[in-house]
Amino acid sequence: MPKARLPKIPDAVVPPPLRKPGKPGSGGTPKGQAPEDLKTAPERQTAGDKLLEVGKEAPIDALGWVDQRLAASGFLTGMLYRKVPKGTNWFYTLGSATLFAFIVQAVTGVFLAMFYVPSATQAYASIAHINNEVPFGQLVHGMHKWGASVMVILIFLHMGRTFFFGAYKYPRELNWVIGVVLLILTMTMAFTGYLLPFDQRSFWASIVGININGTGPVMGPYLSDFLRAGPELGATTLARFYAIHMLLVPGAIIALIGAHMYLVVKLGTTAPPWIKAERPKVAAPVSQLDAGANGSGRVNGSGG
Ligand code: HEM
Repeated sequence: MPKARLPKIPDAVVPPPLRKPGKPGSGGTPKGQAPEDLKTAPERQTAGDKLLEVGKEAPIDALGWVDQRLAASGFLTGMLYRKVPKGTNWFYTLGSATLFAFIVQAVTGVFLAMFYVPSATQAYASIAHINNEVPFGQLVHGMHKWGASVMVILIFLHMGRTFFFGAYKYPRELNWVIGVVLLILTMTMAFTGYLLPFDQRSFWASIVGININGTGPVMGPYLSDFLRAGPELGATTLARFYAIHMLLVPGAIIALIGAHMYLVVKLGTTAPPWIKAERPKVAAPVSQLDAGANGSGRVNGSGG
């Protein structure tokens, strides 16, 4: 049976792959082709040259293929090239540093989970095995252990930055509330992780921590009973702490970081409190200028 001929798709409807645009004025470059493509005239190209050209273009073509289907480049460009307010400084990196610390914890935690045994009789030995026998085990365990403290310090510094810069005010109250939940969850991670080596220090420190929780009003006794998971701290406590540390809290943190980042991108970041609003350069009636500056002379929104 003769094959049905497919109609040719007009060039105009095929989007060009993601390519570095030619320099203005370079002219004469065929549509969708970067000037570099013309360095070797096609008639003088050997098979090797052609293969090299295809190889060089492959990653860009692959990216273009994915982008045509996801349409993600618009979103990524908007997010990565968004304007930040005047006066943005190093203190604004503390949120990203906290995010980085969390990612390090997640990655090192996955590798530790491959060797850790959450059992009252084997937990301590499995940690000793990670430290003494597993290749890079001591490094990964050390990164996770010290990384926990780093994340706690960074989250407090980041919260301090947002507090002192007034970033909790309208319209960012919800992001502040999400941040408070993230802080509680981060502290829960640090607390539940501390018991996991199941050595003398973690055992007694967890008893102290659980008892402190028990002193809370109304919910305190229920909370400490829930955490202990039995009349005494033991195997059931370890299993419960492990489930909270490994599954429950990381899942919640990931979801909340997603919401937190969405709001940061959507609302933009706050200008430092010492940055004053600029008067528009164009002449405008004084009454209008006063309304625009809202009387406070403060900038508390995104934009350059
Ligand atoms: C896992 C924990 C957290 C991560 C990964 C995180 C990440 C970030 C990042 C990357 C930003 C944008 C850049 C910056 O301003 O630093 C940001 C902004 C913000 N964060 Fe967090 N954050 C966390 C916890 C918190 C906490 C504990 C609070 C407060 C209780 C908080 C409140 C805010 C607020 C209000 C903003 C907006 C800042 C502005 O408009 O200038 N975040 N966060």
